[in-house]
Amino acid sequence: MRRLDQTLANLGYCSRREARDWLRAGRVRVGGEPEDDPGRRVAAHAVTVDGEALDHPDGLLLLFHKPAGLVCSHEAREGPSVYDGLPERWRRRNPPVTSVGRLDKETTGLLLLTDLPDVVHRLTSPRHKVPKVYRAVLDRVVPGEAAERFAAGTLMLPGEEHPCAPAALEVLGPREARLTLTEGRYHQVRRMFAVLDATVVALHRESFGALTLEGLAPAQWRELPPGTFAAG
Ligand code: URA
Repeated sequence: MRRLDQTLANLGYCSRREARDWLRAGRVRVGGEPEDDPGRRVAAHAVTVDGEALDHPDGLLLLFHKPAGLVCSHEAREGPSVYDGLPERWRRRNPPVTSVGRLDKETTGLLLLTDLPDVVHRLTSPRHKVPKVYRAVLDRVVPGEAAERFAAGTLMLPGEEHPCAPAALEVLGPREARLTLTEGRYHQVRRMFAVLDATVVALHRESFGALTLEGLAPAQWRELPPGTFAAG
């Protein structure tokens, strides 16, 4: 259990200093009773502020339909970000809400956002081999050898020491293909096609494990239960 002032600060309500004022003003209750000790250890579920239960005390897990033009970065200088559209309070949480892996600025599609460090760790770990499905449009006809080269598990990306894990390619049209990866290296899809002298001109992530974007328009998100990826 955490200190009450820390609990409020971590969930983005206020600073620890402000928490003391909130407690003194009687805005905060624990188990229904007014509480004025900022150091009291509490279960977040027992706390209310102005009569309301705390916002997502067990963590946030969001399935976001990333539109083009947003970066997966907290650095304001990098431009509009995937976090900009989230409620202010969520953006003040600690641990901060971050993306599970990254999509490039111009890549669209499924991105998970969470403040649960274990979830990030588990889903980005190469050991877990979560399948991620991408649809790519190329500047040229899909190279005839692409499916075989990607499936072989021997494709080397420039500057890397280990070959890419086998990846499944399905040709969808003359310049369009679906690629399933089980790892998440930097710019991986673009770099894999670049090895075959093809440039990816549009890239969209359709799914992540069993999750899809069904019913979600670009820039919308849907909440998932924080235990969705619990160990076990
Ligand atoms: N591979 C890429 O090249 N870019 C992405 O955004 C995701 C995978």
